Amino acid sequence: MIVFLACILAASMHAQAQAPAPGSPAIEAKAHEMLARLSLEQKIELIGGVDSMYTHAIPEINLPRFKMSDASVGVRTWGPSTAYAGGVALAATWDTGFARKLGESLGRDARARNVNFLLGPGVNIARSPIAGRNFEYLSEDPYLNSVIVVPYIEGVQSQGVIATVKHYALNSQEYNRHNVDSDADERTMREIYLPAFEAAVTKGHVDAVMNSYNLINGVHATQNDFLNLKVLKGEWGFQGILMSDWDATYDSVGAANNGLDLEMPSPRFMNAKGLLSAVKDGTVKESTIDDKILRLFRTALRYGFLDRPQFDPADATYAADRAVALQGARESITLLKNEDHLLPLDPAKIKTIAIIGPNAWPAITGGGGSSEAQAFEPVSTLTGIANLLGPNVHVLYSRGLPDSATVIRNTHWEGPVTATNFPSKDFTGTPETATQQPFGDTGQGRRAPTPPDNTGRSIRYTAGYKAAKDGKYLVLTASQGWGTSVKVLADGKELETPPHAEGQVPPFWTLDLKAGQTVNLQADYVPGYGARFGLGITYEPDLVMGDATEFARLADVVVVAVGFTPNTETEGSDRTFELPWGEDALIQAVTAANPHTIVTLTGGVGTDTRAWLGKVPALLQIYYPGQEGGTAVAEVLFGKHNPEGKLPVSFDRSWQEDPSYAYYYPVKGADTSLHVTEPDHKPVDYVIPHVKYDDKLMVGYRYWTTTGKHPLYPFGFGLSYTTFTFSKLEVPKSAASGSTIPVSFDVTNTGSVEGAEVAQLYISDPSAKATRPERELKGFEKVRLTPGETKHVTLELDARAFSYWDETAHKWTIDPGKFVIRVGDSSENTPLHADVTLN
Ligand code: BGC
Repeated sequence: MIVFLACILAASMHAQAQAPAPGSPAIEAKAHEMLARLSLEQKIELIGGVDSMYTHAIPEINLPRFKMSDASVGVRTWGPSTAYAGGVALAATWDTGFARKLGESLGRDARARNVNFLLGPGVNIARSPIAGRNFEYLSEDPYLNSVIVVPYIEGVQSQGVIATVKHYALNSQEYNRHNVDSDADERTMREIYLPAFEAAVTKGHVDAVMNSYNLINGVHATQNDFLNLKVLKGEWGFQGILMSDWDATYDSVGAANNGLDLEMPSPRFMNAKGLLSAVKDGTVKESTIDDKILRLFRTALRYGFLDRPQFDPADATYAADRAVALQGARESITLLKNEDHLLPLDPAKIKTIAIIGPNAWPAITGGGGSSEAQAFEPVSTLTGIANLLGPNVHVLYSRGLPDSATVIRNTHWEGPVTATNFPSKDFTGTPETATQQPFGDTGQGRRAPTPPDNTGRSIRYTAGYKAAKDGKYLVLTASQGWGTSVKVLADGKELETPPHAEGQVPPFWTLDLKAGQTVNLQADYVPGYGARFGLGITYEPDLVMGDATEFARLADVVVVAVGFTPNTETEGSDRTFELPWGEDALIQAVTAANPHTIVTLTGGVGTDTRAWLGKVPALLQIYYPGQEGGTAVAEVLFGKHNPEGKLPVSFDRSWQEDPSYAYYYPVKGADTSLHVTEPDHKPVDYVIPHVKYDDKLMVGYRYWTTTGKHPLYPFGFGLSYTTFTFSKLEVPKSAASGSTIPVSFDVTNTGSVEGAEVAQLYISDPSAKATRPERELKGFEKVRLTPGETKHVTLELDARAFSYWDETAHKWTIDPGKFVIRVGDSSENTPLHADVTLN
């Protein structure tokens, strides 16, 4: 009976949010008391993870293990979970209140799955449109990231769950992520790449930080004294746990002495072999190890992890989570083009609608990699529209394009495919040869057994293909599995990836063939974990499915749902700037059949629209909208929800015009070698690819506004079904440098429907001694207004808003003189401006 009552009491207590307690002398004493009971061996055990997602337990001191889970779009641990419009979509809402709400939901979802550490938010800067994880991060702007991340972290941590801000730092590319060196000067780091981490620590009081895989100025993040010791733990006063990304540790003593507190997912370096003798001979001080343990203990004690079960039966909140997921999708979807007010559509005027494209069904809730959450009943665009329209409208659906598995399966090779299996990773050793269909490793074909010494295997596939017609043929591959590599040759010549495309997914190429010509295709494939691979070839003009154009002709209006998916935009590799294969052709074919075509784009950030944008009257960027995305898309298309998302990144016309293009991949001839120690303790010489951050501060709109050139769509831009005006800007004429300065203005809804506008404040510093970007975002507010309504907005600018990083003095500096304050609805449209002089 007593046990039963205690359970009820505990359950009702757990159901309430449990924000972390502040540090206290009692917690400090308890943490030291626990530490005193550990041997050096136990201490070292504690600074490495176990079982992929846990910290180590020490039963002798009643220390349980603590569970971690990814979180960029939803809690990803076994079983389904609510998938939200996370990452870049969250930033597109420009809604700090929503960021808090999302954090709370994720925190509750984590508690419902017994999770102690949520491995998010990701706040790396979206420097280049092709970086593979932009969709998990927030925006191209350090201020927007900083303002969104703080309430998000507070929301997560208010539920008694530790948030982990990641990936610290300069992890703005996936290309060769373990070895790539991000080379950036200090001002660039301080002004662009570090502020969101700084805000997470100093304002959001985040209790965990995750180091990235890459090197920063020649030193891996996990052993980078500048980032970890000087800045994070020194200047910002971070008291929490600094963990590695998964297998991002590269040296025992280097990591132990340079700030890493926890090696995840297992102690490959921070283990007894790597550290016991180092502690004994003083290379690593025992107090350094103690500091790491105390950080874990203090944090666990503050959160109450030792006093209460982490599990909270919050699954009951699923209905509420669903509403949060829908709110995020509604608020993020960004209307980029709406010629002749095609949108909103009037359901009463539509008898037949065609929904076409690979992203129409099933729902695409998020991108690929560790952030993939298994969503509860996700709503696709097709389902969302059909649900909204009801039974009286004909909804026609075509995928529009075959999937790659179909192309691979349907390729008619000249004879069988030869698979030559080598017992090594480099096509050496005595091979076994067999013939098979289709071309690739589907898990069913013959394989050479993995050799007992685990040296791996490699497979060479070859087959001939005879072209039936003259023209362009698409050669495409589908591959899965981390660490998989494929090289494709046509008639003995390697098919080259376009410049700047190394590391991008998915590889595909076009070949010009003549009718009757036979081409011999060869794929040299080295499988990674859980690998699958296939290759196919098809005549390009045949790709677009006949029913797509047929349905487009029959319909009053067409929605084409295209863009990226977890296969084509994913952690571990960069992605193409172009849409996935066939999609340009699909849009062109559909618009030729029916000009009333609306395109919805799924994807992290910008993509190449040049082939079709001129023919498409309406375009919606939907990012990865989470499980309720289809409902929100339908509501926006039919005016049940007035679009309010604003681009958190500038949209380029082409990848070549992006300011990072010239510096994105390693500069040829600039490679140097790095001597590192591998887990087996054998020294290895890597060639480090350097990614030079020589675009410096000129990221996204900073570049566009400084050069006076214009992107396709500017940062901050997004259309609405109503109109807004800005007026009555008030700024003090002069003020003391370093004081907080109020800026106020009015925003009025001048249209006929309710809507939300994001008033954006940019600062220019024409009298600065240092060169500064032409304008920088330093304030914003989202205002929701009924027709005719006016809201008076006041924003406050603190000293940091006017400062730049002085490279000589190594500190934030304000140069007194004139500053220009601009207010408007995007980085390019700022109808209000006024000067303030700082003395
Ligand atoms: C990712 C991290 C993630 C971790 C654990 C890594 O591959 O880079 O973002 O938190 O895996 O899943």
